[in-house]
Amino acid sequence: MSLPLVVNGTQRRHLGDANEPLLWVLRDKLGLVSTKYGCGIGACGACTVHVDGEAQRACSVPVGSLRGKRVTTLEGLAWAGPGLHPVQQAWTELNVPQCGYCQAGQMMSAAALLRRHPRPSDAQVDEAMRGNLCRCGTYARIRAAVHRAAQ
Ligand code: FES
Repeated sequence: MSLPLVVNGTQRRHLGDANEPLLWVLRDKLGLVSTKYGCGIGACGACTVHVDGEAQRACSVPVGSLRGKRVTTLEGLAWAGPGLHPVQQAWTELNVPQCGYCQAGQMMSAAALLRRHPRPSDAQVDEAMRGNLCRCGTYARIRAAVHRAAQ
């Protein structure tokens, strides 16, 4: 099938199985490799992207469900303006990543949170980020960076 997609503000076309997870379309067909494979079952958050501005697990979203929707990956988070998105800037300033594998998903969840709550409380940060696992344990820096990005 031929499916129109809007990814990072650009019209794209998916030729193939409508049930294919968005994660593999992004990585293997569009070369947007910030989006990572962790668990494949929606449990770790490494593959988090935005669908119409909301955080979604790309491993669990069939590409066929995205007709007329806007997909954003970390590569496109700042596409609407010059420079880095405030979340990307804060992550850089506070040296959040350790191994880095989960951090694109972390930033995408943080950006979706800040869209809903521009000045989140610690409890709101923890609630929004609890589905994004980090085996290096960077959670304290993640929380600090979300607050930095909110300033
Ligand atoms: Fe999608 Fe883990 S790879 S949530």
